[in-house]
Amino acid sequence: MKFHILTLFPEMILGGLNLSILGKAAENNIISINAVDIREYSREKHRKVDDYPYGGGAGMLMQAQPVYDAHRVVTGGRPVRTIYVTPQGEPFTQMKAEELAGEEELVLLCGHYEGIDERVLEEIVTDYISIGDYVLTGGELPAMVMVDAISRLIPGVLGNDISSEEESFHNDLLEYPHYSRPECWHGKKVPEVLLSGNHRKVAAWRLEQSLRRTEERRPDLYARYQAKEALVRQLSREKRNHIHMMESLSRGYAEILYVSQAVYIKSLKSEKDIKKREQSENIEVLLYDRRNKICMVSARDIVSEEDLGHFLPESTEYIISSQTLAEQKQYQRYLTCSIMLYTQKVSLPLKYKEIRLLSPADLPLLECFGAEFSCGIHWEKQSNVHGESAGNYIWDRMEKGALYGVFAEGKLAGVAGIHKGGGMGLLYVDTPYRRQGIAMSLVAYVVNRILEKGWTPYGYVPAENTAAEKLLEGLGFYTASKKVDIYIKLQKILANEI
Ligand code: ADE
Repeated sequence: MKFHILTLFPEMILGGLNLSILGKAAENNIISINAVDIREYSREKHRKVDDYPYGGGAGMLMQAQPVYDAHRVVTGGRPVRTIYVTPQGEPFTQMKAEELAGEEELVLLCGHYEGIDERVLEEIVTDYISIGDYVLTGGELPAMVMVDAISRLIPGVLGNDISSEEESFHNDLLEYPHYSRPECWHGKKVPEVLLSGNHRKVAAWRLEQSLRRTEERRPDLYARYQAKEALVRQLSREKRNHIHMMESLSRGYAEILYVSQAVYIKSLKSEKDIKKREQSENIEVLLYDRRNKICMVSARDIVSEEDLGHFLPESTEYIISSQTLAEQKQYQRYLTCSIMLYTQKVSLPLKYKEIRLLSPADLPLLECFGAEFSCGIHWEKQSNVHGESAGNYIWDRMEKGALYGVFAEGKLAGVAGIHKGGGMGLLYVDTPYRRQGIAMSLVAYVVNRILEKGWTPYGYVPAENTAAEKLLEGLGFYTASKKVDIYIKLQKILANEI
């Protein structure tokens, strides 16, 4: 990830971000920090960049031209997401950090004095973000806060990638308390359960602590968590058809944008009718997975482009809909799939055991698969930020630790993994290794990894792929009665990004 920070105080940025974990990440080329001195772009003799505001008022304004020129040079005219840090922006949250961590390049613009000439903001800024409801003397500290929060979500920045998954604010809960040696300090003992070695009990205790702490310290977050849990319970009345939504909520990926049952109640007559409806599956939901830019819809009253437009965040790249949507200008139906899910809690046995997580360094191993390997996605070679050649989507999945490979005779024989959004998929077994139970073992392996996290394995199977459906049924998966349509943003199709 490349950060370009446009500032009047580049030393402040470099002094703050070139140390410790972020300094290491920059040294290892996982992130880069480019602090750009806006003054360098002044056309005035004394490198002046500010002037009086028209209409009067206290203080000075940063002028449009130096900011614009600095931005032009940094971006070279490419459409790079550009954030103006300002108390007038939308609040910076963990969810926002996750969304921004998906970008390859970001510009952060730091204001000073009374602000920046509105006209240049209109031309270059894509997002206005505030780090809190207080006013600082300049944008440097907020920009540094954002770079820190975003960077630590980038794979490889923290040594242990699992730690960013489990921490405070994941799934709207604060983190549980931690203890280290000695076992007794100032007369205070480490809670007994943590010494028990019983992972299930430890996990239950930690969840309980998280709940209690969140309720006490952040009632606002707790209320949001409870709303999500209530929705998961409601959706679970039709678990097979709603598993993708339930998992997105309970894994902490999705937020609720819309939920209602009232629309039906209008047309119903008796109290009994209403009760029946409330218990039925016709719950109207629209969820958004900000990290993966996926919108999930199961709402009969939001099918037109206009209705959807009210709710869909602009960044949405995929829509997964349980209802056929009206013709869309921006999105095209790409696939119709069955949802399949594995509801048992027991892990599956493996015939082939030579299976491991793949990393981006393993990408060359996939090249022997040839053109037939597509896994339902287009994988044109593309350059990533570091200039490496990579299959766009596959590279992303490897980087996120979501692709597994099976090896036979020392060669990569096949892969399977987890799609953006959490559904299983990406299954491919190379021709010489088929009909030997390898695919079955691979899928079983992925199922077991998902079960270890306490999640429910599910996947989208393209309607015509009966082989995949049979395979999953053989492992104990059920098929939902409703199919889903997957829509993709036209821009992505045209840019050959899928
Ligand atoms: N600039 C000054 N105060 C700020 C804040 N609270 N958030 C973002 N940018 C700022």
